[in-house]
Parts: sequence; C-alpha cells; structure tokens
Amino acid sequence: MAGSEYTSVKDFYRDRSIFITGATGFMGKILVEKLLRSCPHIKNIYLLMRPKKGRNVQERLQELLNGPVFENLRRNSPDELSKIIPVAGDITEPELGISIDDQNTLIRTVSIVFHSAATVKFDEALKLSVTINMLGTKRLVQLCNRMHNVEAFIHVSTAYCNCDRNDVAEEIYPVGREPDQVIALTEWMDDKMFEELTPNLIASRPNTYTFTKALAERMLQRERGSLPVAIVRPSIVLSSHREPVAGWVDNCNGPTGIIAAAGKGFFRTMLCHDDKVADLVPVDIVINLMICAAWRTATQRTDTIPIYNCCTGQQNPITWKQFVELSFKYCRQYPMNNVIWYPDGRCHSSVLINKLCVTFQHMLPAYILDTLAWLQGSQPIMVRVQTKLSKAAKCLEYFSTKQWNFRDDNVRRLGEQLSPEDRETFMFDVRQIDWPSYLKHYILGIRQFILKENPDTLPAARSNITNTLQHFAYIIIIIITLPMLFLVVSCESSSVAVIRVLNMAT
Ligand SMILES: NC(=O)c1ccc[n+]([C@@H]2O[C@H](COP(=O)([O-])OP(=O)(O)OC[C@H]3O[C@@H](n4cnc5c(N)ncnc54)[C@H](OP(=O)(O)O)[C@@H]3O)[C@@H](O)[C@H]2O)c1
Repeated sequence: MAGSEYTSVKDFYRDRSIFITGATGFMGKILVEKLLRSCPHIKNIYLLMRPKKGRNVQERLQELLNGPVFENLRRNSPDELSKIIPVAGDITEPELGISIDDQNTLIRTVSIVFHSAATVKFDEALKLSVTINMLGTKRLVQLCNRMHNVEAFIHVSTAYCNCDRNDVAEEIYPVGREPDQVIALTEWMDDKMFEELTPNLIASRPNTYTFTKALAERMLQRERGSLPVAIVRPSIVLSSHREPVAGWVDNCNGPTGIIAAAGKGFFRTMLCHDDKVADLVPVDIVINLMICAAWRTATQRTDTIPIYNCCTGQQNPITWKQFVELSFKYCRQYPMNNVIWYPDGRCHSSVLINKLCVTFQHMLPAYILDTLAWLQGSQPIMVRVQTKLSKAAKCLEYFSTKQWNFRDDNVRRLGEQLSPEDRETFMFDVRQIDWPSYLKHYILGIRQFILKENPDTLPAARSNITNTLQHFAYIIIIIITLPMLFLVVSCESSSVAVIRVLNMAT
C-alpha cells in the first residue's frame, strides 16, 4: 500500500474539519492532543460538550486545555489549540441538543467524525445506558447523514460487547434483541419496570454496558445508510504507553482505581484467575489506531463496516498474575505518599478464599481504622471506601476470571498498509509493549496524575514505606511471639506451681 499513490496520514488530515464526541473523557483528550500535535494542518476540531457542574462549555474547554495532556502543545504550538471549537450539546437530547446554527456549521464543514461519548459505567441503569450509548449514537448518525461530506465515521465500541462468546472475530454479531425495540422501550416504560426487566433483556451479558454497546454496533449496521463507518473495539484501556507522556491516566475505571488503592496499602486481594490473559491496551495505542482507521476508511472505501479489535491478548499477552505481581512490585519501588499498610497482595481463584481475605484484609482493618478515627473525633471513611472498592472489584471479576480470543487481523493488516514513517508516528503495534516497563510507568502515572502526588515526593514516600515495613514487621513479630510468650509464661507459671506443690509436699 505504501507506495507512490500513498497519502500519508498527516497529509490526509490537512485542511479537514473534525467532529469529536467524548473529548472531555479519558480517551477523547488523548485523541484531540494527538491529532493537533501530529497532524498540524488540520483546519478545525469541533468538540461536542455539555455544560457540567455549573461550568459552561467555554469554561470546560479552558479546563481541558489547562490539563497536563496539553502541556506540550501549550508550550510548543499554542496556535494549534485555537483550532478547537466547543459545540454545546448533550447526546441524550433530540438532535444532540446542538443549536441549528451549530448543526449547519457541522453539516457544511466536517468530514471526519469520532464518536467516543458513552457511559462506561458497567452497572448503569439500563434506561440511561440505552439513552446514551444507543440513542445518542443513533442521533449522531442522523446528523452525520445530513453532513455534506463525511468520509469517515469512527465509532468507539468495546472488545467486550460480545463477551458472551469466547472467540470474537472482527465482525458484528446478533445480540438477541433488536436495537429499535429496546430504544422504543425507553419511550414508554418507567424506570422501575425497566429495572425489573433488565436481567431478562441483557440475558447472557454481565452488565448493561456491554449490552448497550453491542446493540449500538448492530444499530450502526442497520442505520448508517451510505455513511462510511468503522468500529474500533479496545479491550481494557489503561495509561499511555509513550504519548503525550508515558503513564498518563486520568480516570479510575477498570483496574486503575483498584491499583491506586493497592498502592496505598488497603487493597490486597482480588478474584482473578492467575493464568487467564488480562487484555489491557494503552490509551495512545487505541487513539493511534482510531486516527489510522479514519484514514483507511476514507481512502479505501468498502461496502462493509471494518471492525478493529484493539487488543493485546493475541500478540503480546500478559496474565492477571503477572499484571498483579508487577503492579505490586512497582507500588513498592515507587510508593505512594502516606501508605497505610505495606502494598502487597495477590489474586485468588477461589471465591471462598477471596471472600475470607476480603473480610480479614479489607473489611476488618477498615472497621478498626474507622473506630480509631471515630475515637479521635475524625471522619470514619474506610468502610465506605472498602465497600466502593468491593463494588469495583465485583464489576471486574467477570473479566478477570475468563479469557477471550479477540482476533485482530484487520488491525495487523492496517499496520502493514502504513508507511514506515506513519507506522512510527501512529504506533499501534502492541508487540512493542514491554509490560514491566509499561506497568512501571502506569504506577508512576497513577501516583502523579490520579493521586496528584508530585514525583519530588518519592524519596520521602520511600522512607515512609520503609517505616511502614518496620511497623508491619513489628506487628508480625508481635502476632507470632505473643502466643509463644503466653505459652512460656503459662509453662513457667505451671512449673513454678509444680515446684510449689512439690515443696509443699516435702
Ligand atoms: N476506558 C476503557 O477502558 C474503554 C474500553 C473499551 C471501550 N471504551 C470506549 O471508549 C469510549 C471512551 O471511553 P472513556 O474511557 O474515555 O470514557 P470517559 O472517560 O467516561 O468519557 C466519556 C465521555 O463521554 C461524554 N459523555 C457522556 N455522556 C454524555 C452526554 N450525555 N452528552 C455528551 N457527552 C457525554 C463525557 O462527557 P462529560 O465530560 O460531560 O461527562 C466524556 O467526554 C467509550 O465509548 C467507551 O465505551 C473505553
């Protein structure tokens, strides 16, 4: 493919206007930054944003651009940032809540669309999940079908939308329900009825998220018309591999919140099967693939919807055991501030043993700490934190105790079609991930970007963890030696008694 006719990815984006949903999210931020940094001739990037927590879209845009992701652009090419134009809207509203004027601008100018907005809450109420993930996608397709010149519509799905199958090819599977029928239910059914019907509707899927994401794909297949659609399905998305900086992450979804708690020392056990593959993929790799998928969709039109399973399990697998052990190792080497217990723990494959460990390693210490806090007159929070973490771990259990075979032939083929330069600039070859080094940066990223702990505090945190280790050792010594002391004392007192009895007798 890379030959004399070849249009480089960068040139393809020249003078184009792009529309992005979900740009304020974890993945969306990396998408916007990478497009501006690596395709400097882009015309405009329109971002769909909703006002939130009393902040209007201009304020939200400013907040977005002030974040660490855009530091490089702020410093080196601040002009690029002025290409971003916020569009007020909400995908739960008719016509996406976008004003007529803004709709007209988008219809006239946009040629590439990235749809990343979604609710990623696994156990979201089904009605809301349908409204955001399905109806929102449907409304966006309707708007795009009115645009004059859409050359690529990239929909971000999830590799797990077909988690009811073991072998997941790059194709759209039947879901067992029709998207329009499920959407129609939202129009007349009240929340309570919806909730009662949820287990029946989602059937073999573990949660409303995977169900609505699967139906959104099916709906795209039915309703795209002549829209050139491609679907990118990442598995579990973690921190960046290299760009804009190694280790960047800003949400606690999936394993990240749990690992942050493990680093602080209060999460030590989880139900997962040691040897099952943990299909984890760095966020910048997913974004590079999305950018190239749009290039491919526009430059080589097909009648079908190309699907890209953006996963690591086939080409560079890591097991849950390796993931957990390496994460703990780096939590100890690069400790977080104020750890309350020495970071250590493991996967358990037995439900019973895991439950026992949760009781004794998570809940019991939480009750003790909360009692101490209460006695000192401060706010007891640990039981609440542990209850939340248990809920997060429970959501992850389905994925950490099973394994899928996500085929990724389209992803490999796309990589082969790129020129060496594009392959380097938009790297999505997962074989290049060196897991130990990647996870080291993941832990450092959690420390810096989630817990907001300055890297300068590492030396102090290291000496703190040494003290914690000493306290930990003292406690272990006390636990082991107390019964022995008790035994010796009671033996001694019994021998004294025996001698006394003997003395009395003589
Ligand atoms: N993260 C993962 O591990 C993962 C794995 C596989 C697939 N995916 C898919 O990747 C995409 C992005 O995920 P993410 O991790 O970046 O999620 P995220 O951080 O939760 O971001 C979600 C984005 O959607 C926007 N959004 C939600 N409801 C909206 C509404 N009603 N109107 C307008 N915008 C709305 C959010 O805007 P606000 O800022 O206004 O809330 C935010 O920008 C999703 O489609 C998800 O299904 C994610």
